[in-house]
Amino acid sequence: MINYTAIIVMNVILVVITVLLAIADKLLVSYGTCKITVDNAGKKEEFEVEGGGNLLTALTNRGIKINSSCGGKGSCGYCKVQVTSGGGTILPTEEIYMNRQEKASGMRLACQVKIKNDMEIFIPDFLAIIRQMVVSKKFDPNKRWLVKIK
Ligand code: FES
Repeated sequence: MINYTAIIVMNVILVVITVLLAIADKLLVSYGTCKITVDNAGKKEEFEVEGGGNLLTALTNRGIKINSSCGGKGSCGYCKVQVTSGGGTILPTEEIYMNRQEKASGMRLACQVKIKNDMEIFIPDFLAIIRQMVVSKKFDPNKRWLVKIK
């Protein structure tokens, strides 16, 4: 027999702990000002943000367009960028959207990367890559495709 009261109490405890950790992270941890260096398919720029936010929001606020259909909830897998330094390790929530080669090249989901220090990122020109695949007849819409980052 399932004890629903115990399940509800456990879930409430987990929610309370999660909220407390989120509040503590906001109030107690300061990452200071972080420098973001972006290579947007050859167009380079640098800007500074207050640490603690996520990379997708920082890039979007800067006017840099990143694919996203889930609004940064980590459920679409479209916001891939290559973090070349400062991104830390890939999260389990990102791994399901990355193949081995993407993981090895530092691809991350921008919405899942928390800015904790200076970062360098590369944003591939996905439209140009797909256009090149179509022109060279290597694009098969029925197959999952792989972006090779140099
Ligand atoms: S915006 Fe959808 S996974 Fe990042």
